[in-house]
Amino acid sequence: MAKNKLKKFAAVKDMPHVIEPPFGEIIGKNHALKGKWHEEFGNSNPIVLELACGKGEYSVGMAKIFPDKNFIGIDIKGARMFSGATEVAEQGLQNVRFLRTKIDFITSFFDAEEVSEIWILFADPQLGKPRKRLTSSLFLNRYVQLLKSGGALHLKSDSTDLYEYTRDESIPEFNETRGRFSKEFDTDELYEKGIYDLDKTMQVVLNIRTFYEQMWLEQGKKIKYLTYKLIS
Ligand SMILES: C[S@@+](CC[C@H](N)C(=O)[O-])C[C@H]1O[C@@H](n2cnc3c(N)ncnc32)[C@H](O)[C@@H]1O
Repeated sequence: MAKNKLKKFAAVKDMPHVIEPPFGEIIGKNHALKGKWHEEFGNSNPIVLELACGKGEYSVGMAKIFPDKNFIGIDIKGARMFSGATEVAEQGLQNVRFLRTKIDFITSFFDAEEVSEIWILFADPQLGKPRKRLTSSLFLNRYVQLLKSGGALHLKSDSTDLYEYTRDESIPEFNETRGRFSKEFDTDELYEKGIYDLDKTMQVVLNIRTFYEQMWLEQGKKIKYLTYKLIS
């Protein structure tokens, strides 16, 4: 591993708001924080997850906009979390945690109805490996085990494949058997038109740019955005 990456990795390990459980503690087991996240934050405010958070731009950005919500950025890559985790420490944000783990084990960390929102931002479209996509039925099945009824699932992506797969295949197929996600918002050109149909606060939220989003925008890609609501 490169020296700089190792340094970031070590620094993240020492941060109290970064949780890095060994796999042995979670495979087939419940982590100690499952069902206890409100105690961890010291309040009963809604819990919002940013999956595949990378540097955690949305967790940090939304934590400032919504001090009355709690944010947890989840990613397997510890060095990437460094910039978000450092900003949280420097700004003294009390409503953000980072969890370094595979999203595949998410049900080991969150109890039924413990989560109010899930954000998936610029996830890898996993072309040719549909089951690995973070909106495949495998993952949707996990999300419904922890999302509140009325909770939201947000997908923001540069990938036409991932966007169309989610909207036209995986969610409709999931709904045929489970019938649980209702589409609330859909645009394939967020900044050109979709954003103007959203309220001012959501416009500010959706203008937060992640590291990957910035790269795709520089290449002239159009940004797609979908929101679903979980109905019981
Ligand atoms: C393309 S990057 C996007 C990062 C960030 N959301 C952004 O927009 O800059 C995809 C991220 O997903 C993470 N990731 C992919 N599959 C994952 C999984 N199953 N569990 C945890 N993290 C995962 C990778 O480590 C990587 O940081």
